[in-house]
Amino acid sequence: MNHRSLSAKFYIKTMGCQMNDYDSDYLARLLLNNGYSPAGSPEQADLILINTCTVRAKPEQKAYSFLGRMSSLKERNPDLIIGMVGCLAQMKGPELLRRFPVLDIVVGPRELVRFQRVLDKVQGKSRRVVATCLDLRPPNPVSFRGYFSGRVTANLSIMQGCNNFCSYCIVPHVRGREVSRPHREILAEAGSLIREGVREITLLGQNVNSYRWQGDGKTWDFPRLLGELGEMGGLLRLRFTTSHPKDLSEDLIDSFSRIRNLCAHIHLPFQAGSNRILKLMGRGYTREIYLERVQALRKSIPPIAITSDVMVGFPGESERDFELTLDLIRRVGFDSLFSFKYSDRVGTSAEKMGGKVPEPVKASRLKALQDLQKEISIKLNKALVGTLQQVLIEGPSKKGGEITGRTESNKVVNFICDQSMIGQLHKVLIKHASLNSLWGEIAD
Ligand code: SAH
Ligand code: SF4
Ligand code: F3S
Repeated sequence: MNHRSLSAKFYIKTMGCQMNDYDSDYLARLLLNNGYSPAGSPEQADLILINTCTVRAKPEQKAYSFLGRMSSLKERNPDLIIGMVGCLAQMKGPELLRRFPVLDIVVGPRELVRFQRVLDKVQGKSRRVVATCLDLRPPNPVSFRGYFSGRVTANLSIMQGCNNFCSYCIVPHVRGREVSRPHREILAEAGSLIREGVREITLLGQNVNSYRWQGDGKTWDFPRLLGELGEMGGLLRLRFTTSHPKDLSEDLIDSFSRIRNLCAHIHLPFQAGSNRILKLMGRGYTREIYLERVQALRKSIPPIAITSDVMVGFPGESERDFELTLDLIRRVGFDSLFSFKYSDRVGTSAEKMGGKVPEPVKASRLKALQDLQKEISIKLNKALVGTLQQVLIEGPSKKGGEITGRTESNKVVNFICDQSMIGQLHKVLIKHASLNSLWGEIAD
């Protein structure tokens, strides 16, 4: 392995989803093993990596504007190496090197498994590397002792890619086809996270329900994998994201009552409430099926929190279609929602559809939807005042002075307690509630 002088520093800017957070942790450990140390800011770095997202136009613009800001640093320090990794890097490939002379590295998410090679080339002064092969298997984590110490929660990717090709979505084009990781690698990674002090693991995949691994004469599907992880000593909480409504099996619903540390929360994106739009999106379920699954979840685990993703202004979405989305939101009463305006992605089939919705209409639908959701979220949060919630204590809150943790339903709670309680589960009596957080007092 090629070791840098101790003074070489790296800075990683992460955009996008938890997959990118996970990949940035992978890159950081690889760099630490290569003799780099973390820089407190981009100004102090010798290597800057921008881990990008291209799911909508907005994160793409964010990546370009961050790159623009980094360019001025290169004027002052010509030895600075700047790389773009992740989904936008995959999407644009060599075009990025042509457009941005300051850029040295362009590496897609599936190429991370070969990032050591890229680093060796860069360290050998062969600048300007592009790597965007999509057929590679997900990497095994690189270990760096103590990397996770001090962290109570961590992500663990169990699969890469997606085969669903929803008509609006770029993800299958930039993350490649679905590949599951061997269950033994996943268990080993969970074991090492727990040994470093992690107490809550979120399993990641674009569609975790499709997890499948065959080995030792057995087949592991997602509920079976969850069952094994649920038995690991020292793991206080297990979560997963994202599951696709079309594949939400009874077996998975049963897992919530069967597995002791699986949190009573599911993120189940519905995207639209109109069957006509769902069909155009290629989602593979109707609003009736979605509502049935929600009912089945609530019957099996009454306190389950349900969160979701939704978009407005899909091509051809009428006022009536949009009303059906609002109606579904009212019927389900989601704990919280991630809501987006439809954004054309080059290469997807929705991009070629007629009936594009004008920007001001999308904006006003998004506002109406978010106003409705705010009302619902506040009401659900206020209903928790006076109740005792089991909270995993995570660390000092961002504002300072308080400690923060999350309920099983994934709501943030702030309170005062001793730092020595970080990493433990405690009962908290909820005293106040707002749209985004709760406040309480330790009660045990
Ligand atoms: N695999 C997950 C979604 C990953 S992308 C799933 O199937 O649910 C995260 C969210 O971004 C999606 O749920 C969707 O709501 C949103 N999204 C994806 N493509 C989009 C686009 N072209 N325009 C607007 N929002 C989009
Ligand atoms: Fe995109 Fe659909 Fe795959 Fe989710 S399931 S990543 S929305 S194609
Ligand atoms: Fe995630 Fe964005 Fe890629 S949402 S999978 S980082 S396109």
